[in-house]
Amino acid sequence: MTHTAHFKVWRGDAEGGGLADYDIEVNEGEVVLDIIHRLQATQAPDLAVRWNCKAGKCGSCSAEINGRPRLLCMTRMSVFDPAETVTVTPMRAFPVMRDLVTDVSFNYTKAREVPAFVPPPELEPGEYRMMQEDVGRSQEFRKCIECFLCQDTCHVVRDHEENKPAFAGPRFLMRVAELDMHPLDAAAESGLDRKRTAQEEHGLGYCNITKCCTEVCPENIKITDNALIPLKERAADRKYDPLVWLGNKIRRR
Ligand code: SF4
Ligand code: F3S
Ligand code: FES
Repeated sequence: MTHTAHFKVWRGDAEGGGLADYDIEVNEGEVVLDIIHRLQATQAPDLAVRWNCKAGKCGSCSAEINGRPRLLCMTRMSVFDPAETVTVTPMRAFPVMRDLVTDVSFNYTKAREVPAFVPPPELEPGEYRMMQEDVGRSQEFRKCIECFLCQDTCHVVRDHEENKPAFAGPRFLMRVAELDMHPLDAAAESGLDRKRTAQEEHGLGYCNITKCCTEVCPENIKITDNALIPLKERAADRKYDPLVWLGNKIRRR
């Protein structure tokens, strides 16, 4: 079954822009990215869009469809009423480069700010042994495709550019949580307290667990329940741990 859909697509660049109207053919089984490609082929050859895999795995085609952060390649046209106007805009939390392409370098900056896994000094990589339970806990977080839809939707930065320097965002707080849960991470032995840095350097306290990040994650990772809330609990335990309190007192002298 084929029908003609009405699309509004944001066209412009860093200087500004607006929504352009298109009537375009839609065929059964197509996704929004197919329609964007058809627009490029027929009506808008210079329409900029970033994509790679068309399989929900590269995380490149993130945008907003009818105001909701989504992957263009994983949003089926069948979820819309044929008479409905489909509006496609670039991710709002990041600066526009052109049309649907945004500059996501904020996320790379935040990624670099999280210190990597610290290998246990007494073990060679082939000697690592972990309980399946421990592997399972953080495996969920490794499904992340770095689409940055969670970063785009989180209200802490979505409309508050001024919070960006102090807030890593859900994707990278989840990374801190993953490393903090890792039974072989030897960060603490080398003087790196991931719970403290989560609070003081990555802005964990800004997150008020609204769960919007979890709602938009295409990998269905329970970012809030399984990463952010446990990290908050662990950071709070650390703060009120009498030994930590005593240690801080002594260090301050
Ligand atoms: Fe995308 Fe989910 Fe990873 Fe966030 S956690 S970047 S929404 S895959
Ligand atoms: Fe933002 Fe997710 Fe927390 S949307 S406020 S990081 S629960
Ligand atoms: Fe790779 Fe959409 S094109 S996730």
